[in-house]
Amino acid sequence: MITVCVILGTRPEAIKLASVIQELRSKPDIKTYVVLTGQHKEMVDSVMELFQLTADRNLEIMKPKQTLTEITCNSMQGLETIFAELKPDLAIVQGDTSTAFAAALAAFYQQIPVGHVEAGLRTDNIFNPYPEEANRRLISQIAQFHFAPTTLAVANLQKSDVTGKIIQTGNTVIDALLTVANDNPPCEIPGLNWDKYRVLLTTVHRRENWGQPLQDILKGFQKILDNFPDTAILLPMHRNPTVREPIKEVLGKSDRVFLTEPLDYKQLVGAISRCYLLLTDSGGLQEEAPSLGKPVLVLRETTERPEATQAGTAKLIGTDSDSIFNAAKDLLDNDAAYQKMATAINPFGDGKAAQRIVETIADELKAKTNEA
Ligand code: UD1
Repeated sequence: MITVCVILGTRPEAIKLASVIQELRSKPDIKTYVVLTGQHKEMVDSVMELFQLTADRNLEIMKPKQTLTEITCNSMQGLETIFAELKPDLAIVQGDTSTAFAAALAAFYQQIPVGHVEAGLRTDNIFNPYPEEANRRLISQIAQFHFAPTTLAVANLQKSDVTGKIIQTGNTVIDALLTVANDNPPCEIPGLNWDKYRVLLTTVHRRENWGQPLQDILKGFQKILDNFPDTAILLPMHRNPTVREPIKEVLGKSDRVFLTEPLDYKQLVGAISRCYLLLTDSGGLQEEAPSLGKPVLVLRETTERPEATQAGTAKLIGTDSDSIFNAAKDLLDNDAAYQKMATAINPFGDGKAAQRIVETIADELKAKTNEA
């Protein structure tokens, strides 16, 4: 029997590990433990419920306005005990959050091999996104299985001189998206009539956008609304008070602005499929929206997903209010420009990433167990 421990803490990790956990749990010769650090609470609970995932342990570390040090130290301490107890043959982490970094390091300290899902993304700027670029680079140095979503991610890992095995799998977010989109879920927002407006689905939460960049983004949104009376903005707000407060202050009273709690994943998929376009600093949405034929304008200065801009499904527009307005105006005014982005092919995956990941794990670990 092989024992695998999957560690997750935030909402995107839950979405992107759901198919991996389901696939692992379908294998009778693999014992799978799911461990939550609790970096996020409500935002993870709804994803766990949707994909019918249960957690075996929960460290419940979340505090309001938690610091990166608190997340890292509290996760590592809790995981030390859990790893010592469960003695897994493999620890699986996803992406570049502080949970993923802390879990990889805690596993490494007990010489437990680490499998890194969504490995090899790079901006080559360790302060943007902050702290994610550093987190994923550090994980790459200690992981032994690098599950890379794209050929570019594979090349980045080769360039980083990592040890261990690199396997190209596609991105697991497409597994999750296609499963949910298949049921054509609705998205009901009080007061929002999807047929009446061209709805811009917007999200913003990144640390490097806190402060002035966020103010500029919100100014850009207001300018779009002022110039295009047939548009509305749907903005599901992250739970973080540092981003919620300015959003409410600037857009709270605006006509045609719908500020909501984070949407559960089903509703989010419903919103992507009904909206006109997306303005976002989220990585996951850049990967998901093209599968449902929606252009993405990325509210960031750098991207670790140049595949999207190269494929023509996304444009990197930064946080300047005029750039935001002009990029949105182009897509709102010019149908040819819109169609070009909307019909470009999604470069991120085919919905079978988890199968490839779990096949590799089963083969590699069985081979090791037989050697022992
Ligand atoms: C984290 C990840 C980021 C990821 C994002 C997705 C790190 C360093 N950053 O950023 O890569 O894109 O998650 O959301 O790991 N909160 C709640 N309830 C929740 C979740 C959050 O109240 O369910 C509030 C808390 O006040 C918390 C704050 O949000 O202090 C910020 O959460 P945190 O996990 O520190 O950072 P994120 O910005 O969510």
